[in-house]
Amino acid sequence: MGAKIEITEEKLDMLYAAMEKNKLQPGPLMPTLHAAQNIFGCIPLPIQKIISSELDVSIARINGVVTFYGHFSIEPKGKNVISICLGTACYVKGSQGILDAFSHDLHIGVGETSKDGLFTLEATRCIGACGLAPIFTVNDEIYANGSVQLVKKVIQKYKN
Ligand code: FES
Repeated sequence: MGAKIEITEEKLDMLYAAMEKNKLQPGPLMPTLHAAQNIFGCIPLPIQKIISSELDVSIARINGVVTFYGHFSIEPKGKNVISICLGTACYVKGSQGILDAFSHDLHIGVGETSKDGLFTLEATRCIGACGLAPIFTVNDEIYANGSVQLVKKVIQKYKN
């Protein structure tokens, strides 16, 4: 098991409040999914079912949207989210090697979360900082001019 999701009454109240508000506008699904992702950290099936019945949108459609957009996730993400840019500038400067090193050392693939719930590995498109390529981020922290040598140090830093 990776990270755990908490569905508390308080969080459900927040979701229902968001849906009430969104229902007054056209296209309530996307803002509701954004709200759910922020409230729960992911949008698992039980939450998708609630949204489905409240907004009268099929589960299949909701599931399709959740799995299509990288911003949404069905499983909870780990405590630390590592995102490696695979945009052209970063790729040319070796970001795939950095991604492979994280994957190897954490024993997870892209989109997966480590068993201890500490790390989720993601690949992103260009984040608009190509001059500092290759780039990766851990949570809100940006690592410019990344290298494979940095990988072990970064993992160690966030493990503590
Ligand atoms: S390609 Fe990585 S920041 Fe632009």
